[in-house]
Amino acid sequence: MLFVFDMLPLLSGFIYFVGIWALAVFIYDNFISVISIIKSLLQPYFQPQLPTTLVDKYGKWAVITGATDGIGKEYAKELAKQGLNVVLISRTKAKLVEVCNEIESEYKVKTKWIAADFSKGREVYGHIENELAGIPVGILVNNVGKMYDFPDALENVPEDVLWDIININIGSVTMMTHMIIHNMKKQGKGIIVNISSGSELQPLPYMAVYGATKRFVRTFSLAIEQELAEHNIEVQCVTPLFVVTKMNQYSETVMQGSLMVPSAAAYARSTVFTLGKSKETTGYWSHGLQYFIMKLSPERVRTRIGGQMCKKLRQEYLDTQLKEKAM
Ligand SMILES: NC(=O)c1ccc[n+]([C@@H]2O[C@H](COP(=O)([O-])OP(=O)(O)OC[C@H]3O[C@@H](n4cnc5c(N)ncnc54)[C@H](OP(=O)(O)O)[C@@H]3O)[C@@H](O)[C@H]2O)c1
Repeated sequence: MLFVFDMLPLLSGFIYFVGIWALAVFIYDNFISVISIIKSLLQPYFQPQLPTTLVDKYGKWAVITGATDGIGKEYAKELAKQGLNVVLISRTKAKLVEVCNEIESEYKVKTKWIAADFSKGREVYGHIENELAGIPVGILVNNVGKMYDFPDALENVPEDVLWDIININIGSVTMMTHMIIHNMKKQGKGIIVNISSGSELQPLPYMAVYGATKRFVRTFSLAIEQELAEHNIEVQCVTPLFVVTKMNQYSETVMQGSLMVPSAAAYARSTVFTLGKSKETTGYWSHGLQYFIMKLSPERVRTRIGGQMCKKLRQEYLDTQLKEKAM
């Protein structure tokens, strides 16, 4: 009995130490992005000799995949606003020409478009590489992504859709990065932005494959960020939550938008602001808040909550389909 009492101070010291350690790790994980944004905002005052504009920092050209709609299109416009020439890559020629014209008429920059379908896998990259030859790409935005048509159980998702998701979400990020590294190393500068998703934060039932591919994007980004740091090439992983784009057309609730679900333009404006300032970000203040709150619960609980949310969205979609059929 005496022995147990002797051990009590040791035990409480141990619990105290674990508590402080866990809190420190949590604060570091959750606030590192905010701290690095504040640091780079203060940089011009303390290191005025360092480049401040995106063009000075990375060069004149940016490449954006999936750039004719949603986040990619608005991201391209934001970069053009900051004086960057942009290369847009998507499937549809007519949309590419239209967005290029829109950007050239609004901003004094050059544009180029490349029509490519990333769902085709390996065969598209030779064509893209040829088209990019001679262009000193300083910013690569791996934005293109695909979700199921609506949240659903794995067995119901057509095989073709699953292969498309794997080729687009994993293949394009990997191979576009692989293609561009060599040139960025030669230039001695550059930044690669990989658009992941809040769905990577925990396994996501009814969006299982989409969430898993976005988890890939995050671990891939954080790993190559360290590989490339010594070559002065930065890697930023962006994890948006819901944004009003056609990817979410299956849900009227999401498409209505809200404080938590911004428009693509508002989202892109905010996330481009973090470019070169943080290595990992949700890109938007209310997404950061949601991410922080979600992280307070254990992964298994988040998985359950995420699954319930997707089930609800699935039901909403099926109900809308029924209503439309009945009309
Ligand atoms: N919207 C959200 O709520 C949300 C949330 C988290 C993460 N994200 C991520 O953010 C990124 C952008 O999403 P978004 O919602 O802006 O997408 P979106 O509105 O659906 O736009 C997709 C873009 O990609 C192009 N595209 C589609 N399939 C393609 C293919 N096979 N090959 C080449 N281009 C293709 C489309 O143009 P064409 O059809 O002409 O090819 C379009 O320009 C994605 O990686 C997505 O996973 C989005």
